[in-house]
Amino acid sequence: MSRRKHESRARRVRASGPKKGGRGAVVRVRTRGTPGAAYDVRIGSGVLARRVGGLIGPGGAALLVIDSGLPAGFIGPVVRACDGAKVRWGACVIDAREADKSLGTVERVCVEAASMRLERGGCIVALGGGVVGDVAGLAGAVYRRGVRVIQCPTSLLAMVDASVGGKTAANLTVSGQDGRPRLLKNMVGAFHQPAAVVCDVAALASLPDRELRCGLAECVKHALMGPLLGDRSMRAWLESRIERVLARDPATLVDLVKRNVAAKARVVRADERETSRRGAGRAALNLGHTFGHALEGLAGLSWRNAAGGMEVGPLKHGEAVGLGLLAAVRTSERLRLLPAGADGPLADLLGRIGLPTSVEGLPAGEVVAERMRDDKKVAGGALRLVLPVRGGRVRVVERPAAAAVRAAIESLRG
Ligand SMILES: NC(=O)c1ccc[n+]([C@@H]2O[C@H](COP(=O)([O-])OP(=O)(O)OC[C@H]3O[C@@H](n4cnc5c(N)ncnc54)[C@H](O)[C@@H]3O)[C@@H](O)[C@H]2O)c1
Repeated sequence: MSRRKHESRARRVRASGPKKGGRGAVVRVRTRGTPGAAYDVRIGSGVLARRVGGLIGPGGAALLVIDSGLPAGFIGPVVRACDGAKVRWGACVIDAREADKSLGTVERVCVEAASMRLERGGCIVALGGGVVGDVAGLAGAVYRRGVRVIQCPTSLLAMVDASVGGKTAANLTVSGQDGRPRLLKNMVGAFHQPAAVVCDVAALASLPDRELRCGLAECVKHALMGPLLGDRSMRAWLESRIERVLARDPATLVDLVKRNVAAKARVVRADERETSRRGAGRAALNLGHTFGHALEGLAGLSWRNAAGGMEVGPLKHGEAVGLGLLAAVRTSERLRLLPAGADGPLADLLGRIGLPTSVEGLPAGEVVAERMRDDKKVAGGALRLVLPVRGGRVRVVERPAAAAVRAAIESLRG
């Protein structure tokens, strides 16, 4: 993307002035693939209860799809706002587990919508993390061949990533070669852009620390390619404010979400369906993810957690992405795409966040590399990696040198 194009896009990203309840911001997301589709992402503290009734539409109807992990006090104001706007509403509570991110749950949401006689003019409101957003979004894409979806993300990851861009999905469970069930992530889905997104950073107050750190891994990914995403100062901004983010300062969280949503919005506008043949397009957002996906499902790993104790068990997605970013930077160093020592500041930032920078119990580098070749983004069995290059940009490298990939994986061994 040229600098001029970036700047003109950046001008379209509006930040609003001070509002009741703290500073707020609005980022406009435009898409080329879906003509006329543009929507606002409203970001603020306390913004959800203020906005939800108006977005559904006074006198309208909505099915609220609610994450069972949300504290009880979170839903009351949303329901009162719906009542205040004379919205006819129903509710469907779902568990935010990958095993429940299934077509069965999508069907349950559709059945609830049909039971309350939700018509095509009605909407589905997703209140939760990325699991709930993906399932509710897919239900919204298929119920009556598509109804409006309002994404109200409540985890940091869902605010800065999953709720924006229109990807919706469910997992499939198949029988593996050993006869045991194997979960295939995001194997069915649809592009269905939301009608609106509301990121209420007040929701992050109850988000478990570990989930906050996982969301920050995606922010670090964006920061590593800030110049490519039209935000040259994103990395310096994040490095200088990480302690305030971890302390959940509302104004800093608004800025964090705004910068990250604006960055994602630019990528989505340029390459909505990840089909770009110019540069990496939306695939740039896979930075660190091919390594990460291979690490995510591994059993028998242990690492030092943010409190200094040992954590045992499978890595969460964000933790695996953080390690994946480190492995990607180290692969680039070995391929001379980045200068030696580029990994130091990244490892330092991940450590300050409390994300692991090394793991014990890692299988041999070749075993992990083999799992990377299983990644669904791999074409024809040949490894294809998004790797960082100088100037905060990335390059798609087909068949990277196996020794460089293996060494980068081995470097994660604690
Ligand atoms: N559609 C996309 O573009 C996209 C992008 C990235 C990730 N995803 C998907 O998103 C999912 C991961 O999302 P996630 O990280 O939000 O995980 P998640 O949805 O599993 O939520 C994590 C945990 O936090 C809880 N939670 C959420 N908000 C809370 C709050 N405010 N207070 C207390 N607890 C809260 C949930 O109940 C859950 O236990 C994955 O399924 C991934 O595939 C989708």
